[in-house]
Amino acid sequence: MASNKAAWLHKAGTPLEVGDAPMPIPGPNEIVIQNAAIAINPLDTHMQDAGVFVQQWPTIFGCDVTGTVYQVGSEVQRFKKGDRVIGHAINLVTGKPQNGAFALYTAVPADKAAILPDTIPFTQGVVTTFAIEAAVCALSVKQPGIAMPGVSTPALGLPYPSLESASSNKILIVYGGSSSVGSMTTQLATAAGIKVISIASERNFDLCKTCGATEVFDYHEPLFVEKVIAAASESGREFVGVFDAISTPETYANDLAILEKLGGVHLACVHPPPGDIPANIKAGMIFAVDDVATPVWRDYVTPALQVGKLKCLPPPTVVGKGLEYIDEALKKCKAGVSATKLVVEL
Ligand SMILES: NC(=O)c1ccc[n+]([C@@H]2O[C@H](COP(=O)([O-])OP(=O)(O)OC[C@H]3O[C@@H](n4cnc5c(N)ncnc54)[C@H](OP(=O)(O)O)[C@@H]3O)[C@@H](O)[C@H]2O)c1
Repeated sequence: MASNKAAWLHKAGTPLEVGDAPMPIPGPNEIVIQNAAIAINPLDTHMQDAGVFVQQWPTIFGCDVTGTVYQVGSEVQRFKKGDRVIGHAINLVTGKPQNGAFALYTAVPADKAAILPDTIPFTQGVVTTFAIEAAVCALSVKQPGIAMPGVSTPALGLPYPSLESASSNKILIVYGGSSSVGSMTTQLATAAGIKVISIASERNFDLCKTCGATEVFDYHEPLFVEKVIAAASESGREFVGVFDAISTPETYANDLAILEKLGGVHLACVHPPPGDIPANIKAGMIFAVDDVATPVWRDYVTPALQVGKLKCLPPPTVVGKGLEYIDEALKKCKAGVSATKLVVEL
């Protein structure tokens, strides 16, 4: 019988402690993954520092896992023991330690997992998972829901990515195009035929273009907002709005300047939007655990990875091997990254 270990958080603001953990027991629609690698997200640092979303102590958190299926729940049809998979772990909504990524074994919903093609190493596949869910939430929600009390989710209602070549007359601006969420949103939007203009540092222009952006502008340049506005209006396409994957006071001021000039409707944010929004703009904050992503997980992710249409970007930086390295990876994440995803092998 296998035994589990995890990097536990006993109290907000303390280092993780590696120790024994119960073996996850899969619910009917869950799979238990024997993790080969996990990835770090900025949210994890807030969970560690402030205990946000923690429902029971001690906790095991973390969102991105990859590995082989160890056990499947009674209703699961799409996976079997031994499959190589990627999965989005959702401890942040269930609160259950067995749903946290930072462990040797994690139970994830089968609807938030996909087969990882043999040609893709675990350390690459794991960069995609939370970002896939976040990107679908940014693009394809049709009716606004609740992100947090008093803050609704954005509802851009854009089509899902397609394996075929898709066309559309729409254009979207992705602010933070080299971030994990921004680059994945660029990939999925362009796979739905939507033209994307990205905003990122010049050193990351190639990454943004590899993800599908047709033009990229450097936010360090004094006139970049004007350039973004000019490029979007010259495209002659219908302007959907801005997806702001950074969502700080500085980026909000620029978003609103862009929306004012281009007459866009949506401002989709990753944190609560600014309060003083003009009445014609629909602003919301994504909440990246949503059934809207199920069709993408089920029908798109694996074949798109297989043919290279979905790329494992930004590339991983492997911090170390073993649960002990997760704390170090969280510190590196807090210090900030550029166009990479921090990964720990297990
Ligand atoms: N609400 C939700 O459900 C949800 C879900 C997922 C993530 N999030 C939040 O979304 C944010 C992004 O997460 P992530 O994992 O994608 O982050 P990340 O990959 O760690 O972000 C790093 C990137 O941010 C870019 N960046 C930093 N400041 C920028 C600025 N002023 N303008 C443009 N780009 C800037 C950097 O670009 P350059 O190096 O090119 O300068 C860098 O590549 C985080 O705050 C996270 O907490 C929210």
